[in-house]
Amino acid sequence: MPLPYNQRTCYCGQVNESLIGRSVLLCGWVATRRDHGGMVFIDLRDREGIVQLKFNPETDPAAHETAGRLRSEFCVAVRGEVAARPAGLENPQIASGRVEVNVREIDLLSTSETPRFPIEDDVQVKDETRLEFRFLDLRRPAMQRSLISRHRAVKLIRDYFNEGGFIEIETPFLTKSTPEGARDFLVPSRKQAGSFYALPQSPQLFKQLLMMSGFDKYMQIVRCFRDEDSRKDRQPEFTQLDVEMSFVQMDDVLRVAEGYLRRVWKELLGVTLPDPFPRMTYAQALAEYGIDRPDTRYDLRIRDVTDICGRTDFRVFTEPVGRGGAVRCIRVPGGADISQNEIEKAENSYQAILKGIGAGGLPYLKVEAGDGGKPVFKTGVAKFFSPELAAELCAATGAAPGDALFFAADTIDNVCKYLARLREEVARRRGLIPEGLWNFLWIVDFPLLEYHADDQRYYAVHHPFTAPMDEDLPLLASDPLKVRAKAYDVVVNGVELAGGSIRIHRADVQSRVFELLALTPQEAELKFGFLLRALRHGPPPHGGFAMGVDRMVMLLNGLDSLLDTFSFPKTQEGYCPLTQAPSPVDEKQLRELHIRSATVERK
Ligand code: AMO
Ligand code: AMP
Repeated sequence: MPLPYNQRTCYCGQVNESLIGRSVLLCGWVATRRDHGGMVFIDLRDREGIVQLKFNPETDPAAHETAGRLRSEFCVAVRGEVAARPAGLENPQIASGRVEVNVREIDLLSTSETPRFPIEDDVQVKDETRLEFRFLDLRRPAMQRSLISRHRAVKLIRDYFNEGGFIEIETPFLTKSTPEGARDFLVPSRKQAGSFYALPQSPQLFKQLLMMSGFDKYMQIVRCFRDEDSRKDRQPEFTQLDVEMSFVQMDDVLRVAEGYLRRVWKELLGVTLPDPFPRMTYAQALAEYGIDRPDTRYDLRIRDVTDICGRTDFRVFTEPVGRGGAVRCIRVPGGADISQNEIEKAENSYQAILKGIGAGGLPYLKVEAGDGGKPVFKTGVAKFFSPELAAELCAATGAAPGDALFFAADTIDNVCKYLARLREEVARRRGLIPEGLWNFLWIVDFPLLEYHADDQRYYAVHHPFTAPMDEDLPLLASDPLKVRAKAYDVVVNGVELAGGSIRIHRADVQSRVFELLALTPQEAELKFGFLLRALRHGPPPHGGFAMGVDRMVMLLNGLDSLLDTFSFPKTQEGYCPLTQAPSPVDEKQLRELHIRSATVERK
């Protein structure tokens, strides 16, 4: 009689001392098999963990015989009794480590080809191979933990917003472009030759329309699509927690956003997050950390030394200063021990990394103790500092004997970019990042617009629907770059987790912003006419935010790549090695869609 596998008594990982003496029926995959003088031991794995099975040739010869034929990843059902492991043979690492199951019956449900890689955490396999065999990769305990924690976090979030009176409403995927700064994925229309839908980069405009429809508090766990270059923290499709509220001001939105984050961190990690989260202005973040998502777990803060360095006669400093740029530096305490090789010679030297992002070089100096312990500069660009300038630089940076100073001299934007990257790299290599810290931070007071010199126009720092600060409204006409936005981002340990804003709810202000963004009234009407029309029909004041669910799961599980938070992610090239998407389609399908493929024609 086959075992009734549909009557499983519990998961493998749940077998523990409370079940000693009881009969259990388990299903799972063979993780390991060991033969010990006739006894066969199998570690059986399911999504909750592992349990040790024991097959005795004396008492249960048939089961023992089957066990001898088992190989990795065969799928089986077993029935047996739970027993305590002999003293000294316990495995405290796993929940079921004090017990084993004496198997009386076993059914081999299916066999497996030899898996391409062992189903263990920390296996060294190429991402491409892991993704090609994702169904096996997902059997790894770390992946199971990650996806299960994702489910739990999303459930907590839904509960929180449900209790808060939010309504989950779905919005279309086949829609029109929503500008969030990436390229659109397009879907050709069969019925309207030559026209395309865009997959949404976010539900931004629909959630604003829902506010205008009176839904008041909206949330959605929603897929978004952005055709941008994938990185460790980006995927072409990803999931947002998307939220919008009416009749609120900035602080109300921040309170709601902090509330669910505090709940998730408390329930899933037992971590109490601060109430409220600290806030930092965009200006301070850029000045001290060079980036709008600062990792504040370590110091290495940036100092402005434009004035002092501008008075040296080092061309690398004085030229950018003459052009209105800046010289800034970071002090690495104890950094005098960093070798010249690591700074500028090695293939992956700090200088090489900075050159990789456009820097001309990496001026540095080391501070040593001179006469009477007074700091003196050595190596690198030391020779450009007179004793007086050296003293000023020490006072400005706090540099003391044993430290190193690393400089960047260029436009302010580039200086920020280089030193932000350097901070990260120095902190990582020198082990300056403390474990177990959760530095949640609101970045506020973003500028509304930024100017791109290449095409000589303004761009929205967030998106075009972000409201300017009321007191800055007059500047829209006179000095647009000075206008601050009612926008905010949640940054956690250097990761941008969420962002949002209070929205423009006046048609005239929205039109003015479109104008600044180089949209003619005709273009604005063509792209966003529906929004402008809705704004003329009694729009409530409103605002909201969106959070990257995948990034949250990454943080919660201490992962450093998004790959391990998705069930079926894509490679950096936007490719799915499992299904081999994207893939060519046949001529007939293209014809129906009124599409001709240039690639197909070339062939
Ligand atoms: P934003 O573009 O900042 O805002 O996106 C919000 C959050 O989504 C996550 N995210 C991503 N995660 C993975 N892969 C990606 N390619 C990716 N892009 C973004 C980030 C980010 O903080 N509509 C606005 C929100 C609003 O104003 O309400 C928006 O989409 O965690
Ligand atoms: P040099 O005077 O060429 O020996 O350079 C002295 C220091 O300045 C070295 O540490 C270089 O990395 C750095 N450096 C040289 N040229 C540049 C540049 N264009 N931009 C930034 N740093 C530079």
